[in-house]
Amino acid sequence: MILITGGAGYIGSHCAVEFLKDGFDVLIFDNFSTGHREIIQNIQSKYKSAVFCEGDLRNKSDIDNLFKSYKIDAVIHLAAYSIVSESFNVPEKYYENNVCATINLLNSMLENSVMNIIFSSTAAVYGEPLYLPIDEKHSKKPINPYGKTKLMIENIMDDYDIAYRLKSVRLRYFNVIGADYENGLGEWHDNETHLVPIILKSALKNDFVFKIFGKDYSTKDGTCIRDYIDVRDLVAAHKLAYYYLIKNQISDVFNIGTQKGYSVKEIYEIIVEILGKKIPVEYAPKRNGDSAVLLASAKKAENLLGWRYKKTLYESIKSAYEWERYLINLKASN
Ligand SMILES: NC(=O)c1ccc[n+]([C@@H]2O[C@H](COP(=O)([O-])OP(=O)(O)OC[C@H]3O[C@@H](n4cnc5c(N)ncnc54)[C@H](O)[C@@H]3O)[C@@H](O)[C@H]2O)c1
Repeated sequence: MILITGGAGYIGSHCAVEFLKDGFDVLIFDNFSTGHREIIQNIQSKYKSAVFCEGDLRNKSDIDNLFKSYKIDAVIHLAAYSIVSESFNVPEKYYENNVCATINLLNSMLENSVMNIIFSSTAAVYGEPLYLPIDEKHSKKPINPYGKTKLMIENIMDDYDIAYRLKSVRLRYFNVIGADYENGLGEWHDNETHLVPIILKSALKNDFVFKIFGKDYSTKDGTCIRDYIDVRDLVAAHKLAYYYLIKNQISDVFNIGTQKGYSVKEIYEIIVEILGKKIPVEYAPKRNGDSAVLLASAKKAENLLGWRYKKTLYESIKSAYEWERYLINLKASN
């Protein structure tokens, strides 16, 4: 059985379905701090075998109970807090929930001889890019507490490998977008900070002026460029990473991105095209810590995992749009 922490959240729920549809036994663990019960209902209505346990990784006894109650073979660990701005304001919340909770999880794994884990890391571990595209060897100097917590966890995992041979594959995601809306899954953050859902939500509500932060970056149109990876392609990488880990029994790290950059303006224009209407836009000053360009080299994942992204940016944004419409209907019917 595979334990998926954070499986009521955006990426974790897609991950659960990715494994369930291949016949894996899946145990989802979540405390609903940012995840949603409706997502678990959507998964269980389609996949009757999916098991869900409510609990908090910060309580070691909650995790110990899981390992006592189920025969767990491997863990996919996505549960975390991940809002960069909040991590500056309340860093202790991030160190406790991301770092301390992960130590609980790793210790419980060791006590129960579960020695394989796939971990959700982030492009934020790199900090300001010194060259592009960013490969896994790039220096790691995170510029916000959130990124620091993820790098700390990666370092802890290295030490657990040396000391105990607990093997981990860490996937460093770039900007995740898109939705498996047909299965009732998508990005659902009450405090939304990501570009695509922010534009879509507000445009659908008709009460919105979209703010672009900075228009004089040294990029083709002056706005920031990011590497957007579809969540459905991302979870396919988790499955390949799982097979890689089980087969090779080595710890490793992979970037997951497309190596294609799109500017904020380009994203805005695709959304205007999909909605078929103009969305009011205004420019605001640059924000601290926003790099002009972030691009992943995912060559290592291509070569060693046999992974490559498949979805086009248009397909990803269209799916995010369908998901936002689904959410509006869901909220209206409640
Ligand atoms: N969304 C992105 O673009 C992105 C990019 C890079 C990395 N990541 C990482 O991917 C992972 C998933 O991100 P997401 O966007 O799906 O976030 P999310 O907030 O939608 O999901 C996180 C889930 O973890 C659960 N959770 C949090 N703390 C918990 C705890 N102590 N015990 C039990 N459950 C807990 C939440 O309730 C939620 O369901 C995170 O680790 C995040 O740092 C996300």
